[in-house]
Order: sequence, then C-alpha cells, then structure tokens
Amino acid sequence: MNLDRIPHEELHALLCRMPKAELHIHIEGSLEPELIFALAKRNRVILPYPTMEELRAAYAFTDLQSFLDIYYAGAGVLQKEEDFFDMTWAYLDRAKADNVVHAEIFFDPQTHTARGIPFETLISGLDRAIRRGREELGVNASLILCFLRHLSEEDAFAVLEEALPFRDRFIGVGLDSSERGNPPEKFTRVFARCRELGLRLVAHAGEEGSAEYISHALDLLKAERIDHGVHCLDDPQLVARLVRQQIPLTVCPLSNVKLRVFPHLSDHNIARLLAAGIAATVNSDDPAYFGGYLNSNYTATFAALPELGAKEAYQLARTSFQASFVDESIKAGWIRKLDEFFTNYRMTTKYKQ
Ligand code: ADE
Ligand code: ZN
Repeated sequence: MNLDRIPHEELHALLCRMPKAELHIHIEGSLEPELIFALAKRNRVILPYPTMEELRAAYAFTDLQSFLDIYYAGAGVLQKEEDFFDMTWAYLDRAKADNVVHAEIFFDPQTHTARGIPFETLISGLDRAIRRGREELGVNASLILCFLRHLSEEDAFAVLEEALPFRDRFIGVGLDSSERGNPPEKFTRVFARCRELGLRLVAHAGEEGSAEYISHALDLLKAERIDHGVHCLDDPQLVARLVRQQIPLTVCPLSNVKLRVFPHLSDHNIARLLAAGIAATVNSDDPAYFGGYLNSNYTATFAALPELGAKEAYQLARTSFQASFVDESIKAGWIRKLDEFFTNYRMTTKYKQ
C-alpha cells in the first residue's frame, strides 16, 4: 500500500484508531458547559451566563487573554473533591474513546487555592480519577502542576510548598497562563528548586510569545519539553537546536486557530515543523473550549494540510510516546503496539524507511 496515497476516509480512521499519548491538556479546559452547569447547580454557584447557549456564545475568543478570562471563570464551579474527580473522569473517558493510552495532564492549583480550596481537596479528586481510570478504563495518566505566570514567583513558591506533601501525586511542573509580559526568566528560581526536587520540567513558550521565550525556557528554566512553541520557526538557530536536541513541542492546532495564533488550520505550521525535523506532537490544550478532543485535532489538521499523510500520523504518535515522561521500557512497549497497529494496516514497511 502506498502510504502517501491513502484515501482520505482511511486516513481519518487511521488517525482515530492509532494508539497515542496526549501531553498537553489542561484539565480545567476539559470542563464541558454541561458539567459547568451541573457543578454550578450542585455547589449553588451563580454563573454569569443564564444558559448553556449563552455560555457557548461567549467562546468567541480573540486572543489568549480573552480565553483565559472565561476559562478561569468556568473553573470557579469546582469546589469539592468529587468535582475534581468528575471533571478528570470525564476527560479520561473521552480520552479512551480517542485511543489515548497515556495522558500527562496539567492542572492549575492557584486557580483553586486562591478561592480557598485546599490543595489536598483538588489533588485528591484528580488523583482518585487517575487511579480509577488506569484500572477501569486502561488509560494511563499522570499530573503536571502548572504555575500561573501572570502571578509572582513568590506565589509559585507558595503553591509549591503546599504541594510538596503530595509530591508522589504529580510528576512535574509547567508554566501557563498569560504569556506576553510574563517571560520565563520570572520563574528561574522556582524552576531551579523544582529541578533539585527531581520534578520534570515543561513550559508554555512561543504560543503568543516570541521565539526568544522558547530559548529562555530552555536555557533558564531547563524545560525538557516546550508547550506550543510554534513561533520557533522565526529563529533558524533555535530550529537547528530543537532538531539537534530533539526537544519535543506539544502543538495544539485547534487551540492555535481559536486563539488566532494562525488565521486558519490551513495556515498552521505543523507540517513545516515536522519537515524541519522537529519532534512535534499533536494535543488538544483545552478541548471543551476549542472545539475538539485529541482525535478532532488530528483529523481536522490532516484534512486542512494535504502534505500530511500516514507517514506523519505514525511519526506524531511515535513522538507522543517518545516525548512522554514514563520509563523507557514502558515507552518501548507502547511504540511496539503502535508498530503492530501500523503493520496491521500494511503500512509500516514503507513508512519507516
Ligand atoms: N491555560 C490553559 N490553556 C492555556 C493556553 N493555551 N496557554 C496558556 N495558558 C493556558
Ligand atoms: Zn496549554
């Protein structure tokens, strides 16, 4: 079978069915309007939008900040341990339907602790869903604690302090929220401390911010993976470095269009990132707000960019496992399964050349 001429419907099925990992999903961004309304009722929270339709109508974002304002407001319905459980369970169930076998899930504790929710409450709900998801759904998952970059480094240290008694429940830290005006260097000391603690390190950089934010996230924060990173193509030296060091980028195509990083999916640079040899992956970011979970990100992107075919599908899924923070032996097992899957599609031989 010629991998480059695979019919469109078959490519769609291949993208949906192949096993994959998701490395960039904010769990608060998986709160669907239905769940927001159900939790608001359960917790007697009054929402600024009287109906789900009106809430959905507000999802007309013009940039990252216009999204974050609504995203933080939506997270306000989360109050009890079971709310955090229900949100995470809903995501894991959805992930299973997309053949996600592993997810590294971001959470924003400061959004909740600032409202008086104890760290223990939120981490317990997230962790309980993850354990149950592993057992009952067969979806593996782990947590990455994100610092909000619009707040101070002192605040980041404070939440790290609160989190440390639960150190075994998360594998790493990240940096998210409003990028412009909040450069990586603001968090150099707290990332150094996390590194000493043996936490894995990631950071959003180059989503709205410049290529320099990516270089600084690597040099100053020692980030092992860059979330988004799509502005790297503005700096050829940075591209050469990302390729040489095979630093993974967790790219989120539907998010980038909704937040106007690119005007249309057909303008997205993911095919160019792959062609340059960058270790890019596909992810959903905030699927309840951006119009789709992981498979929708894959299928819409491949439909919009005809240069992407089965070869890139394999490459993206393989990199998603390779770039994950699990033991090498577990990665190898997942990649073996992926190879078997492609062999069954009679595609592996040509692809892997
Ligand atoms: N928090 C949730 N989604 C985000 C994004 N796309 N960029 C920065 N911070 C976020
Ligand atoms: Zn993100």
